[in-house]
Amino acid sequence: MAGMIPRQFIDDLLARADIVELIDSRVPLKKAGKNYQACCPFHTEKSPSFSVSQDKQFYHCFGCGEHGNAISFLMEFDRLEFPDAVEELASHYSMEVPREQSNRSPAQQKQDQKAYIQKQDDYELMAQISRFFQQQLKVASDKDTAIDYLKGRGLSGEIVKRFGIGYISDAWDGMMKVFGRNSQINQQLVDLGMAIQGDKNKPYDRFRGRIQFPIRDKRGRVIGFGGRVLGDGTPKYLNSPETRIYHKGQELYGLYEAKQATKQLTRLVVVEGYMDVVALAQHGVDYAVASLGTATTPEQLQTLFRTVKEVICCYDGDRAGRDAAWRAMDNALPMIQDGYSLKFVFLPDGEDPDSLIREQGQAAFESILDNATPLSQFLFDHLLSQLNMSSAEGKGAAVDAFKPYLAKLPESNLKDAIVTQLANKFGANNEMQLKKLQQNFTQSTDNKPVAKRTKTTPVRLAIALLLEHPHIVEVLPDPAILQQLNMPGIPLLNQLLALCKQNSKVNSAQLIEHFRGEDAGKQLTKLMCLEHHVEPENAESVFLDLIENFLNVFIERRTEQLLEKERNGGLNKTEKQELHGLLSA
Ligand code: UTP
Ligand code: MN
Repeated sequence: MAGMIPRQFIDDLLARADIVELIDSRVPLKKAGKNYQACCPFHTEKSPSFSVSQDKQFYHCFGCGEHGNAISFLMEFDRLEFPDAVEELASHYSMEVPREQSNRSPAQQKQDQKAYIQKQDDYELMAQISRFFQQQLKVASDKDTAIDYLKGRGLSGEIVKRFGIGYISDAWDGMMKVFGRNSQINQQLVDLGMAIQGDKNKPYDRFRGRIQFPIRDKRGRVIGFGGRVLGDGTPKYLNSPETRIYHKGQELYGLYEAKQATKQLTRLVVVEGYMDVVALAQHGVDYAVASLGTATTPEQLQTLFRTVKEVICCYDGDRAGRDAAWRAMDNALPMIQDGYSLKFVFLPDGEDPDSLIREQGQAAFESILDNATPLSQFLFDHLLSQLNMSSAEGKGAAVDAFKPYLAKLPESNLKDAIVTQLANKFGANNEMQLKKLQQNFTQSTDNKPVAKRTKTTPVRLAIALLLEHPHIVEVLPDPAILQQLNMPGIPLLNQLLALCKQNSKVNSAQLIEHFRGEDAGKQLTKLMCLEHHVEPENAESVFLDLIENFLNVFIERRTEQLLEKERNGGLNKTEKQELHGLLSA
């Protein structure tokens, strides 16, 4: 829901909430004098130094220093974002969280309010259906088949319960019979993906004859289902479609359960399937989640890295698995700051986490996790395997191949290590280039928890000047002059130059508008605010100097390249001409 939560509401909520009751429901407290105490849930300890004050409605740990109010507790303990923690706390007191909607019209506000109430009702209905599916494991006429199936997959009653796994017999109206009371609810069931509207009047069950895995959001609300056939039918898994409460790309199957099972999650394993998550939990690895589609999205990775610092992607060793890993890595790069790590496990052919842990047990599986391939190694292995390393061009290309990935990594020890490793592999000459590269365009992302001020680099400065004074394009003899120059940021500069050349009256706002919705647009908006201290009257000359420097870098590099080629076997005629031209430039 859009809009800020009003300050007043938060005050009222905290006035209503009782921190002792709240914490006691998660960490049993003992009365000790005026306060309550327990062993701290935020660090490991043997004697209690975690203290909760009823008067102050505040907790404090004398051991690790954690402290806060009821909302902070939910944020820390349930690992919720602020608005979710407020929602969670409010739901205990049946309070509805209002939102400030300064720029919404009264009609829109009414609409929002309606949508909010609708969703609350949706969650309630989904919860009821989930309970119904669970109950079917006890009462359905063919419940034994379902129970045998679960047992055959090695699942205990306790795990089935923890994951809320249920069952629905094979019929067109098993669920509709119970829930389809009127046309309004029928429509709601269709909207929520639980029923399908066919040609006939009444919709019919989407899930029929399947083991039902409820998909819960991070607050534990059921938002969808995955249903597995008992035998060899197709599709093997049927999934809820996207609905107003279920957005696949944002959810992770098993995350809620993992957070419930382990109060101090330190790492999470990303696997492919529902059964993998459940089977791993069955064998003691209760920190696995599944991304609910093929690729792990940036939103999912963000959720993962907000929850833990170490994420291990565990995929098939085949081509598809490696591609999935590569995409996950690419999406995750901007989030890998110091202290965070992404690792990869590629499973042997024909195995999945479920089969592996069943055969080899928890210890063996965890030792595979402990030995997961670090991101840097995956990056080197993958990129270098695509290049011919024996030739000089191969080496140059190698450095080029790393550039886009390095550009996405935030400044960190990992990035330094990769640059050093590259320099060691490909020689000192390149180290200079790499250092330059590292200082140039880093990343364009809004995932960064800490906003860093944009550093001024030559390319950025050139772009900033051009944005402010688009007319300086006129002093360039040939705007296409930089086209051969392969340096971060130069393509963007070229794009801008072309736009400025096309329309001599273009202004900064129009230039930026041109890139709306693109990463480059965000980058440009930042550069609009670059503090560069170049006076308007000097803009032209500074800009020209910068362009000249870029060209010099290009000339240097190209000359070096051609000289090296000459040493290693000679140049053709055009190359010779080019070299002579460069040397006399
Ligand atoms: P797999 O085909 O690898 O199945 O699908 P699995 O997880 O090993 O399942 P079991 O062990 O045979 O029960 C991996 C994931 O891909 C999605 C599901 O999320 C599944 O968990 N999938 C697969 C579907 O959505 N539909 C399908 O028909 C198959
Ligand atoms: Mn499997």
